[in-house]
Amino acid sequence: MNVLVLSGSPHLHGSSSFLEQSYTQGLREAGHSFITVRTAFIDVNPCRGCDSCTARNGTCIYRDGMLPLYPLFAEAERIALITPLHYTGMTVHLKKVLDRLYAMEWSLGLDSHKELDLLAVCGTPDPGEMAPLVAEYEALGRHFKWRCLPPLLACGYYTRQEIERSAMGERAREKGRATTPCPGPACNVSYIA
Ligand SMILES: Cc1cc2nc3c(=O)[nH]c(=O)nc-3n(C[C@H](O)[C@H](O)[C@H](O)COP(=O)(O)O)c2cc1C
Repeated sequence: MNVLVLSGSPHLHGSSSFLEQSYTQGLREAGHSFITVRTAFIDVNPCRGCDSCTARNGTCIYRDGMLPLYPLFAEAERIALITPLHYTGMTVHLKKVLDRLYAMEWSLGLDSHKELDLLAVCGTPDPGEMAPLVAEYEALGRHFKWRCLPPLLACGYYTRQEIERSAMGERAREKGRATTPCPGPACNVSYIA
């Protein structure tokens, strides 16, 4: 399986990056190909809603860091969102990238048989804190007709040190490993930012 991992945190070595590393370790063990994009470290403009893309066969007015991502979205069989909770939802960095898919809806189309996955971490131990994020995740899946996998919600971890002491790393790794093995012999791994 070809997995596009979108990481939302502005911390390169924070708690969600620990989840990401554990998840991709599981993907690797299961023989999947994946590419990780650290959305906080690429130059992507927010969608202006100008609708130019609708008149230009999906061509956005911005020629920025989103350009290499469009084919990755088109080719991915699974899109995994990995984010810390920032108040009610995913980080602005991740949202900015997802909003720019608007241009793709008018060209390549996105409603192929993709899976959507979510791994999220928040500081307070109350899982209710994640409810708006989970609702948004499910709404995204409905919108794009992507199949939502059960999310992994890690609540009660403000720092990497805290989450490293928990069982969440192993759960994220199992989540990555539990996917259907791909037929190819090798697992390709690459990173953007
Ligand atoms: C701007 C901002 C908003 C946050 N909002 C919440 C929140 O509403 N609820 C919560 O439990 N934690 C919140 N947190 C805490 C983070 O979700 C938590 O520290 C997480 O482990 C950070 O992950 P990271 O190291 O991958 O960035 C917030 C952190 C930041 C920086």
